[in-house]
Amino acid sequence: MRHLLSAADLDRDAAVALLDTAEEMAVTQSREIRKLPTLRGRTVVNLFFEDSTRTRISFEAAAKRLSADVINFAAKGSSVSKGESLKDTAQTLQAMGADAVVIRHSASGAPHRLAHSGWIDVPVVNAGDGTHQHPTQALLDAYTVRRHLAADDGDSRGRDLTGLRVVVVGDVLHSRVARSNVDLLTTLGAQVTLVAPPTLVPVGAHAWPAEVEYDLDAALATGPDAVMMLRVQRERMSSSGGGFFPSPQEYHRRYGLTGARLARLPEHAIVMHPGPMNRGLEISAEAADSPRSTIVEQVANGVSVRMAVLYHLLAGAPAPTTTQGAPA
Ligand code: CP
Repeated sequence: MRHLLSAADLDRDAAVALLDTAEEMAVTQSREIRKLPTLRGRTVVNLFFEDSTRTRISFEAAAKRLSADVINFAAKGSSVSKGESLKDTAQTLQAMGADAVVIRHSASGAPHRLAHSGWIDVPVVNAGDGTHQHPTQALLDAYTVRRHLAADDGDSRGRDLTGLRVVVVGDVLHSRVARSNVDLLTTLGAQVTLVAPPTLVPVGAHAWPAEVEYDLDAALATGPDAVMMLRVQRERMSSSGGGFFPSPQEYHRRYGLTGARLARLPEHAIVMHPGPMNRGLEISAEAADSPRSTIVEQVANGVSVRMAVLYHLLAGAPAPTTTQGAPA
């Protein structure tokens, strides 16, 4: 694996290998000393042109726990505000010694451009691009599903998600999380049902490897193993004039995970959300804070999964040559 740009680039074996490595990383994170020497002497640049809490911090934590140096770049407060291009920004960071670039950008395709333009010559990880892809979110979601639902004996290593049913609910139109999850969950053998109002179903979604349903109660009545609620992305709706649903109250009534809907889920079913949440809109506080919610656990799993991704991309790459940077 040279880059991680899309969940669709991962076949079953590659995805299972990453999830298995994440399991190993998670074991190290419960030790008294959590830091591994694996990426000592390497530098990971977090290049964030769009806001983030979970993804940015967990990539930073993941890199540091593998002993890499981390440079955090946020577009706000940088020379991007003076008109500097993505190419010039990236080349500046590579000149400072980046060994890998983690990029979040509002433009779909920006990570692909960075990886394949020839501007830089290091692994690129997509940390979310526009409405397109968020592959590490899909990996941490699959990891969470697998840990809860795919292992009767408590050891999920080597397992895929064959036979599990996941319902993904809400603003599919603007969701890179939904696209990435459809790709990865189905690669791993799960059945995915997308539920959304017709206005929030992307053109072409019927050709994706997922069922499309407009009635949330009908979808939940089928007894899914996991329900993944999507954030209503109001910041991406305002530029197109809004009008995707009549009112927040109406959206919550028809597509929100209310306490009543939560109570009708099978006993083993888990409730997921990538965060940040709009409490009271796509998910009630009762559902978000319930014992079956994995929302906080997903954040913790994100660190182990991102350690695994950085490990797969960098640990096999040529080591730095200075004595100071000698590999562990
Ligand atoms: N899930 C997710 O990508 O969250 P952030 O926007 O906070 O990184």
